[in-house]
Amino acid sequence: QVVPTYLLRVRTCLRGGRASPACRIAERERGMNRKYRKTLIAGNWKMNKTPTQTKAFMTELKGLLPKGRWCDIALCVPAVCIPAAVRAMRETRVAIGAENCSAHTAGAYTGEIAADMLVDAGCKYVILGHSERRAMGETDADVNAKLHTALDAGLIPIVCCGETLAQRESGVTEEWITMQIKLALAGVPEEKIRRIVIAYEPIWAIGTGETATPEQAEEVCQHIRTIIRKRFGSKNARAMTILYGGSMNEKNAFELLAQPDIDGGLIGGASLVPEKFVRIIEDANQPVG
Ligand code: PGA
Repeated sequence: QVVPTYLLRVRTCLRGGRASPACRIAERERGMNRKYRKTLIAGNWKMNKTPTQTKAFMTELKGLLPKGRWCDIALCVPAVCIPAAVRAMRETRVAIGAENCSAHTAGAYTGEIAADMLVDAGCKYVILGHSERRAMGETDADVNAKLHTALDAGLIPIVCCGETLAQRESGVTEEWITMQIKLALAGVPEEKIRRIVIAYEPIWAIGTGETATPEQAEEVCQHIRTIIRKRFGSKNARAMTILYGGSMNEKNAFELLAQPDIDGGLIGGASLVPEKFVRIIEDANQPVG
């Protein structure tokens, strides 16, 4: 079930906002792109909620989820919450993911969790290389090693990249993103690239309430697609799902998700509140063509 454009407009207006003409043009282009690639709205809970709170959240979310065929939906939750989340969402279209995994498959790595274990627990996705993990010491080489392990286990990695405010202000955003993507994807064979999702998350926008403008976010997401095109060919670039993340919420999601190269969102704070998360899912469900 695809919501007609005019209904989306009405909804946007009712919410007190009106999409700009530039947004409308971008949205039309993105509508066409949706034929080639999936839209994904993924939550990143970070270190929030207990298993008990997870169960309560999922029950509430189930009652609010729109009926019909909507975009792909995922919730990446703390490891101990995975069983409760998987159990609660078994009969729904909401997939569960983890927020990290080990680069190793098994062995003497106290406190680590292997990709196989996540699959067995019912996970479909895993976030890799989030800036908060990089700040704890994770390197590009670690992200690359984890990516290969996750792919081998059958998980869909959501690989994060993003620049600091200082990098943006000194004009090196493109070079930085290029380097992060190339290092993260090193050694990935062409036939596996479509099983990867990339998330552009400018560090200055994460958890700060400050969002990249739709134009800023689009510019970098388009650049990421160009990197993929050069390395993996245009068909793979066209099929790749690229997310934006960084203070995306129910108020700004519509214009961000209308951009031609933004195929969804990685949502932190707003994914902790069922109504907000559902509003973003609704905003992602823009008409095709
Ligand atoms: P935020 O987090 O939406 O709270 O800014 C996004 C993220 O870190 O993935």
